[in-house]
Amino acid sequence: MSSNEERPRTEVADKPKKSRAKSEKKSTPDLSRRQFIKGAGIASVAASAGALLADRVVEALPRPQTGGTGGAGVVGPGEVPVTLKINGKLQRLNIEPRVTLLDALRNHLDLTGAKKVCDRATCGACTVHIDGRAVYSCTTLAIDAEGRDITTIEGLEPSGGLHPMSQAFWDNDAQQCGFCTPGFVMACAAYLEHEPNPTREGLEKSLGGNLCRCGTYMGIKDAVLDAAMMTKKKGAVA
Ligand code: FES
Ligand code: FES
Repeated sequence: MSSNEERPRTEVADKPKKSRAKSEKKSTPDLSRRQFIKGAGIASVAASAGALLADRVVEALPRPQTGGTGGAGVVGPGEVPVTLKINGKLQRLNIEPRVTLLDALRNHLDLTGAKKVCDRATCGACTVHIDGRAVYSCTTLAIDAEGRDITTIEGLEPSGGLHPMSQAFWDNDAQQCGFCTPGFVMACAAYLEHEPNPTREGLEKSLGGNLCRCGTYMGIKDAVLDAAMMTKKKGAVA
């Protein structure tokens, strides 16, 4: 058996294809946020993500067997070199394979926008994008994100200014303590890519994977509708 075959089977969200997204939209008008978000790398999270994404998950990319003490075909448990592409830049780390993407971001790269709240795929405070998809970084192993395009709240707007979704949150007073806000902004931005014509009712269901203890849901829904409008206007001018 090859070393790749011996690695545990894990899943990460695949890159969305425009044509596929269109057909899915037609057949799933009530797409829920639980279905929309994908916690990669943990089977229980994959199960809660629902059947909608079942045909779009892929196995983690094979990687060279380096470091660790487990012998041939086993990665870790010691540190191994991992290269992550985050906000367009390659970051090289030596981390144990058990390190989550969230911990790699926060503890090794000083990217603290994604928050650790529940640490178990429930609240969405840790949401980042992997290949354009919203993902819980607390239940994604960093090693499984190798070779993927990772975007954090720090890199959501490549120009360095405010992303339209962040601006809309600001304009609609869609935060109080702000702890859930980066995760919500990332989730909402990914959702808008998927659904450029959001409705209040659709948002009700679709944002169910992110929780706000301060109860700013009204503002958040207004923000997404505003951001959709802003994005359309921008598109019309361009
Ligand atoms: S910290 Fe990841 S879902 Fe709550
Ligand atoms: S603004 Fe406080 S948890 Fe959402």
